[in-house]
Amino acid sequence: MDTERGNKGERRPWLVGVSGASGTPYAAAVLRALLDAGEAVDLVVSRAARLTLLDETGTAFRDAHWRDDLTAWTGLDEAALDRVRYWSAGDLGAGPASGSYPAKGMVVVPASTASVAGIAIGLSKDLLQRAADVTLKERRPLVVVPRETPLTGTTLRHLVRLDDAGAVILPASPAFYAGAQDVQRLVDFVAGKVLDVLGVHHDLYRRWDGELGGARREATG
Ligand SMILES: Cc1cc2nc3c(=O)[nH]c(=O)nc-3n(C[C@H](O)[C@H](O)[C@H](O)COP(=O)(O)O)c2cc1C
Repeated sequence: MDTERGNKGERRPWLVGVSGASGTPYAAAVLRALLDAGEAVDLVVSRAARLTLLDETGTAFRDAHWRDDLTAWTGLDEAALDRVRYWSAGDLGAGPASGSYPAKGMVVVPASTASVAGIAIGLSKDLLQRAADVTLKERRPLVVVPRETPLTGTTLRHLVRLDDAGAVILPASPAFYAGAQDVQRLVDFVAGKVLDVLGVHHDLYRRWDGELGGARREATG
């Protein structure tokens, strides 16, 4: 079955919200992996995320030119872009602002402490936060990938509140047991853990097979 569509053929996207924490490579890796798996994606980029994107990639992300800017940022091809729907963060009348929109669930990657706070208290100050709130109220999967260190007690309490509400808190915390030889592999590890939660197939990292040093032996031939 076409994974981007439901039983009745309607488009059923994953929502990807990119907020203004450092870590835009995590968002790019999640986007690429979902699209590689044949999924549809609805994308929201917060206003603050435009600053982190500009800082980390040199891409100035513009609503009116999102296809060009998304290509410059992620390298996605036209076929993949055709499965992306982009919504402006200020568009509170957008599809994902309603529970009746047929989304599968949502990932906030990276998640700023401000977004964590906003989602935890149901602030809905922009489409990203509203869509996350909708995802929770509809009891759909919500994965939140916070990127900050150290954390205040306030943020820790917000994260517990999100966990209580049913979200999966998946810190941008790459592991080294999978044999990563470069930064992209560390990024892919986090993205792979996100897709694991969503139940979407990927080959982003080498899974632990119970053998100490297995990944290192594989890498060195
Ligand atoms: C270059 C840059 C890097 C930032 N990195 C982080 C970060 O790693 N974690 C975080 O919580 N906030 C970070 N911030 C601060 C957020 O962007 C700020 O709190 C903003 O209000 C978040 O808004 P949003 O959640 O609507 O995207 C950063 C800001 C800038 C400009």
